[in-house]
Amino acid sequence: MVQTTPFLLVLFLALGAHSVSVKKCSLTGRWVNDLGSNMTITTVNANGDFSGTYHTAVTATSNQIKVSPLQGSLQKGPNQKGQPTFGLTVNWSFSDSITVFTGQCFVDDDGKEILKTMWLLRSHMDNIKNDWKATRVGTNVFTRL
Ligand code: BTN
Repeated sequence: MVQTTPFLLVLFLALGAHSVSVKKCSLTGRWVNDLGSNMTITTVNANGDFSGTYHTAVTATSNQIKVSPLQGSLQKGPNQKGQPTFGLTVNWSFSDSITVFTGQCFVDDDGKEILKTMWLLRSHMDNIKNDWKATRVGTNVFTRL
């Protein structure tokens, strides 16, 4: 018993220190992706709903790029341990397209936050016969600005 108590104390401190040092990934802030696009997420509310703006570096159109609004949702389930999944929609203000991103907010081995995402870009088609070519798919990796 005399030896068990200090052992338990050390174990408790070690576990406590670990949980204190585990960095959580937060979506709030400014991000840049591998294409050079910038994304700003302003606030995430208690339900995990968030909004922000997206400034894409590229476009599938010949239109002039404009900053566009985004809305998203962050997973807030009970099993959430600081690297949450999320989805977001960008409603492009300079084209008829919509992009949906799905991804996860990770903390890498260096303690850096990183968003790994996949997206679907739906372009507007004038005719249902062209529906087959309406959707592009890709991946983007975001790091903090
Ligand atoms: C459009 O061209 O109609 C709107 C702009 C689409 C930009 C796409 S969305 C997926 C990919 N990631 C980016 O940061 N930009 C492109």
